[in-house]
Amino acid sequence: MWRPEPRLQRKLLAWLLGPLAVLLVLDSAAGYWQSVRLSTLAYDRALYEVAREIVLHMKLDGDKPRLEMSEAAANVLLLDQEDRLFYRVVSEDGQLLGGNTDMPAPKVDKAAKPYFHAGEVQGEPVRMMVAWMPLGADAGPPLVLVQVAETLNKRSRFTWEMVASVVLPQLLLIVMATLVVWFGVSRGLAPLQRLRRAVSDRSHLDLSPIDTHDVPGEVRPLVDEVNELMARLGRTFDFQNRFVADAAHQLKTPVSGLKAQIELALRENDLQRVRHSLAQLYISADRLSRLVRQLLSLARNEPGALDSMQLQPLDLNAHALEVSMDWVPQALKRDIDLGFEGAGQALMIDADPDRLRELVNNLIDNAIRYSQQGGRVTVRASQTAEGQCQLAISDDGPSIPVAERPRVFERFHRMLGTQEDGSGLGLAIVSEIATLHGARITLEEDTDGVGNTFSVIFPLRHAPPAGPL
Ligand SMILES: Nc1ncnc2c1ncn2[C@@H]1O[C@H](COP(=O)(O)OP(=O)(O)OP(=O)(O)O)[C@@H](O)[C@H]1O
Ligand SMILES: [Mg+2]
Repeated sequence: MWRPEPRLQRKLLAWLLGPLAVLLVLDSAAGYWQSVRLSTLAYDRALYEVAREIVLHMKLDGDKPRLEMSEAAANVLLLDQEDRLFYRVVSEDGQLLGGNTDMPAPKVDKAAKPYFHAGEVQGEPVRMMVAWMPLGADAGPPLVLVQVAETLNKRSRFTWEMVASVVLPQLLLIVMATLVVWFGVSRGLAPLQRLRRAVSDRSHLDLSPIDTHDVPGEVRPLVDEVNELMARLGRTFDFQNRFVADAAHQLKTPVSGLKAQIELALRENDLQRVRHSLAQLYISADRLSRLVRQLLSLARNEPGALDSMQLQPLDLNAHALEVSMDWVPQALKRDIDLGFEGAGQALMIDADPDRLRELVNNLIDNAIRYSQQGGRVTVRASQTAEGQCQLAISDDGPSIPVAERPRVFERFHRMLGTQEDGSGLGLAIVSEIATLHGARITLEEDTDGVGNTFSVIFPLRHAPPAGPL
C-alpha cells in the first residue's frame, strides 16, 4: 500500500528535530549549571547557619571555650530527613571541643572567610564548611574552628528537579511538534496520494488530462506539463493509428490485385498469355514497391526524425541543378521542356542532402507527370528580397483549384480525375521534409496564369538571434 511520501515527512522531521535536539542539550546543560549554582548558594548558607548555631552553644570557662549542647538541641540542629550532618569544634590550641572525631582537619587561616569545599566523611561525599568563629564579646577572641559537613542528597534532588523543570516542557514541545508535523504533512500530501492513484489507476490507453482541481498549487505546473505531454502523445498516437490504418488500406488493394493476377497467370496454358500476365504483374509489383518506398519515406521523415537529420552546408543552386539533370530523360519521354534557372551564385542552406534530393524529386516528378504532353517545367533557384533561398518548380499543366491547394499536401489525397498513377503521398513527404528543415512551402498559380508553382523557402543560415524591437 502506498503511504504519503515518507521521505518528505522524514526530511521535515529531521530538519525540525535536529536543531530542537541541539537546543535541548544546550538548554539542559545551562539549566544544570544554573541549578547547581543556586542550590550551592542556598544550602551553603544553611550550612553556615548551622555552624553559627553550634557556636551559640559554646560557653566560656574563663577564657577556655566549652561546647554545651543538649541531646535535644543537637537533634534539632543536626537531624535532617534527607541528609546526614557532621560537625567538629576545635579550640585555638587544637583541642577537640565536640563533634565527630573522624572529620578531616584542614588548616585554615584565622582571618580567612568561611571556606566551603567538597569532601568526604565516613565514606560519603559531603559539602563542608570550615571557619574560625569568635566566642568573646564584640566578636573578639577566643576563636574556635567550626567544621560542618552535610551529605549531598538535598542538593542533588534540587538540581535534578530544576533540570527536569526546564527539560520536561521542552521535551513535551518536541513531541507535540513531531506529531503536528507528522499529521500535518500526511494531510498536506493527501492530494498527492489521490493524484498518484488517479494516474496509476488509469489504463495505458487513457490519455485524457488529469483532473487538476484538487491538486496543490505547487504541483499544478507539473501536472499541467504532464497533461500537455499526454495531449501531445495523444495527437501522435492518433496520427500513427490513422497512418497505419491508411497504409494497411492502401496496401490491401494492390496486394489483392497481385494475388488475383498471379492466380490468373497460373491458370493460363498459353505461354504468350502467361508472358502478358507476368508483364502486368511486373507493373503492379513496381507500383506496390513505389508505394512501400513512399510509406517508408513518410515514416522516416516524420517530426520525430529531427534527431537523425544530418544537416550540412549545401549549395541549393548546384543541388537543384544536379537533381533536375536526372529528370531530363523522363521529361524527354513526355516531350516536356525541362528548364533550370539558376541564381548565378551559390545559395547556401543547411540541409540533409538525401532528404533534400527526395523533396526536389517529388516536386519535379509531379510537375512532369501532371503537366501536359509537350509542356514546360522550370526549376528555379533564387534569393528572396529578404535574403532567403528559394526553390520554385513551375509547370504549365492544369492549375490546382484554390480550394484543393491545402489538401494536396495531405496524406493519400489525390485530386479527382487524376489520370496518372500515384498514391497521394509525394506532397505529404515534401511537406514533412520541408518542416524538418524549418522551410516554408507555398503553392500558387504560375506567374503566367497557366499551371502551378510550388515554392520552398529555406530559413536564413546563421540568422542573428532576434533582439528586442
Ligand atoms: N504539379 C502538379 N500539377 C497538377 N496537379 C498536381 C501537381 N502536383 C500534385 N498534383 C495533384 O496533387 C495530388 C497529390 O500529389 P502527390 O504528389 O501528393 O501524390 P501523387 O503524385 O498522386 O502520388 P505519389 O507522388 O505518392 O506517387 C496529385 O494526385 C495531383 O492530383
Ligand atoms: Mg506525386
